[in-house]
Amino acid sequence: MNVKANVVGWEDICGTADVVRGTGVAARVNGMQVALFHTDDGFFAVGNHDPFSDANVLARGIVGDIGGKLVVASPVYKQHFCLHTGICLEDMTVSVPVWPVTVRDGRILIAAQPAAA
Ligand code: FES
Repeated sequence: MNVKANVVGWEDICGTADVVRGTGVAARVNGMQVALFHTDDGFFAVGNHDPFSDANVLARGIVGDIGGKLVVASPVYKQHFCLHTGICLEDMTVSVPVWPVTVRDGRILIAAQPAAA
């Protein structure tokens, strides 16, 4: 499924060079806190809010690979969230929202609304 085809509006967040590969930054999109990551597979955006610690910290999490899934580890209790789906690998009943991301002319754009779960 190409979620990008359904995107109504994009918000210009920053330049691609502004997010160091392997790290994340917190951004505000449409009033919501988003964690934007630069990975070897490109840019991903999930909610910055960690549902387990109830803190806005996921942008500071470590990005890695678990069983072929690209994940971010919460810096608080270390749960892992898939960057593609937002699903928590330790408790699949829990997930964080995922925003479509695209790159245009060296700028990172995040969809104004998260993708439907
Ligand atoms: S690709 Fe991440 S949970 Fe399936």
